[in-house]
Amino acid sequence: MLDRPRSPQEPANVVAPRPVPAERVPAHALPSDPVLPLSARGLVFARAGRRLIDDIDFTLEGAGITLIMGHNGAGKSLLLRLLAGLVEPDAGTVTWNGRAPDRARATRVGFVFQKPVLLRRSALGNVVHALKCAGVKRAERKLRAHEALQRARLAPLAGVPARLMSGGEQQRLALARALALRPRVLMLDEPTASLDPTSVAHIEALALEAVRAGTRILFVGHDLAQARRLADEVVFMHSGRIAERTPAATFFDNPQSPLAARFLAGDLLLDEDRKLKREEETTP
Ligand SMILES: Nc1ncnc2c1ncn2[C@@H]1O[C@H](COP(=O)(O)OP(=O)(O)O)[C@@H](O)[C@H]1O
Ligand SMILES: [Mg+2]
Repeated sequence: MLDRPRSPQEPANVVAPRPVPAERVPAHALPSDPVLPLSARGLVFARAGRRLIDDIDFTLEGAGITLIMGHNGAGKSLLLRLLAGLVEPDAGTVTWNGRAPDRARATRVGFVFQKPVLLRRSALGNVVHALKCAGVKRAERKLRAHEALQRARLAPLAGVPARLMSGGEQQRLALARALALRPRVLMLDEPTASLDPTSVAHIEALALEAVRAGTRILFVGHDLAQARRLADEVVFMHSGRIAERTPAATFFDNPQSPLAARFLAGDLLLDEDRKLKREEETTP
C-alpha cells in the first residue's frame, strides 16, 4: 500500500520511498563531514618485538593546526601515516567519521612528505595528474591546477619540469598539489625540514591560508619557533606514546608532562633512552 496520493501517470507497482526515522539512518548515510572526527583507538604498530606506536587513542576534530612534536624516532611519522590510512595498524582502529579509511575519501586527506614525491612532469602536469587520479573532470583540471600554482606563487614555473625545481619549490609544489584536491584534513610531515627561510615562509603561509579556508591540519615538526608561529595545540610524543596534548597557549610556557618540559628545555632524552637500553641489555 502506498502511503501517499498517487499521480495518475505513476505506475501502481512503484513503491514510494518512505522517510526513514532519523534514529534508524546509519550515521554514514547522513550528509556530514567526509573525514572528521578522525579517530584512533588502541593503535599499535610493532616491529621486531618493539611497539613503535604503543596503544594510542587520539581524536582530531574542530579547526586549526595540531602540531605533533617529539624527538627523532618518537613515532610521529608513523602515527601520521596510520591516521592517513597509508599504513595498517597491528592492533586498534583508525576511523574517519566513524568508518575505516577508504579510497574514495582518501582524496580528502592530503599528505605531504618531508621529501616531496613528484612525477617526471612539469609543475602543472604534476597537479593535473593528481586531480585526474582524484576523479576531477578533465575540463576543470587545468583551471584548478593553475589556481593552486598561483596560490603557491609557482605560476611562473608551471611549465618547468618538477625535477629541475629547487628543493623549496618542489616542496611548495607538493603542497600546492595536495591543496588542489581541497583536502578536509592535511597532514604535513616535517614539510620545511632543510628548506631555505623563504620557502619555509611560503609553506607556512600556505598552511595558514588553508586553515582559514577550513582545512584541518596535522603538522609534524620540531622547530620550536615554527611551532609557536603555527600551532593551535601541541601533541607531544615519546617512545610511541602521546605524552601530552595541550593548547599551544600553555604548552610552550607550561607543558603538562615532565617529558615535554625536558624537551623544551633541550634535554637530550635520546641519550637517556640509549642509556636505559644499554642497562636493559646488560640486565640478565
Ligand atoms: N615500517 C617500519 N618498519 C619498521 N620500523 C619502522 C617502520 N617505520 C618506522 N619505523 C621505526 O619506528 C620508529 C619511529 O619512527 P618514526 O615514526 O619515523 O619517528 P619520528 O617521525 O618521530 O622521527 C623509528 O625507530 C623507526 O626506525
Ligand atoms: Mg618523522
